Amino acid sequence: MTEPVLRMESVRKTFGGTVVLRDVDLDVAPHTVTALIGASGSGKSTLLRCANLLEEIDDGAIWLDGEEITDPRTDEDAVRRRIGVVFQAYNLFPHMTVLQNVTLAPRRVHGVSRGEAEQRARELLERLGLGAKADEYPDRLSGGQQQRAAIIRAVAVRPRLLLLDEITAALDPELVGEVLDVVRDLKEDGMTMVLATHEMSFAREVADQVCFLDGGVVLERGAPEAVFEDPREERTRRFLRRIVEAGRLA
Ligand SMILES: Nc1ncnc2c1ncn2[C@@H]1O[C@H](COP(=O)(O)OP(=O)(O)OP(=O)(O)O)[C@@H](O)[C@H]1O
Ligand SMILES: [Mg+2]
Repeated sequence: MTEPVLRMESVRKTFGGTVVLRDVDLDVAPHTVTALIGASGSGKSTLLRCANLLEEIDDGAIWLDGEEITDPRTDEDAVRRRIGVVFQAYNLFPHMTVLQNVTLAPRRVHGVSRGEAEQRARELLERLGLGAKADEYPDRLSGGQQQRAAIIRAVAVRPRLLLLDEITAALDPELVGEVLDVVRDLKEDGMTMVLATHEMSFAREVADQVCFLDGGVVLERGAPEAVFEDPREERTRRFLRRIVEAGRLA
């Protein structure tokens, strides 16, 4: 078996005595997409934040490419340089153009020359449909375009793993599609991704593995067809039923 890009084993996370992640195991194989689904408060964001070492776990261990990153001797900044993260609210720097936003980390953190960083950035922007916006400031872009720029910024450093937390949640419905298109393109490029999402039909389409979180436990996991069409757990069925009733799963 190929080594997973990300492995979590018996991860436990508490906040002030409340258990938020309980015994979470997760393997993310290279070039696959894992979708985290589950009700609000089930622990999806916390799981992503633990994977990126933004939160310290209470117990268990996490590996990135076979290296235990929860080992106290780990260089956390070095780990974060290998993991791209995009959150719900696109956090582009407003005083920089799209191109400057996208080239900042490659130049400042990864020591890539300006020429090389800009060439790669323009290629990425072009390929992901934002070529014409490279020299615009973020406030001249739509929400969907800003979120696409934020994703491109995250992948500009060629991360091993991309974590996407509700990247469409702040967008008007008509802008969701273009952001999801970018994720599809990245999947085609072989990017390894873990995404928390409420877009169930998207999760079903794009994910290789779906994990249903319930109260901090990965209650059910499997191929999207299995989890969405034939869930084993009553709580998964109930969650999906509510989603269907809310009109969020065709
Ligand atoms: N910094 C924190 N301090 C205390 N409690 C927290 C903190 N962050 C998260 N929690 C709690 O942990 C639980 C899981 O939260 P989390 O944000 O991971 O859920 P989620 O599945 O991402 O929800 P949503 O779908 O609403 O984004 C919640 O009960 C939340 O209140
Ligand atoms: Mg969340």
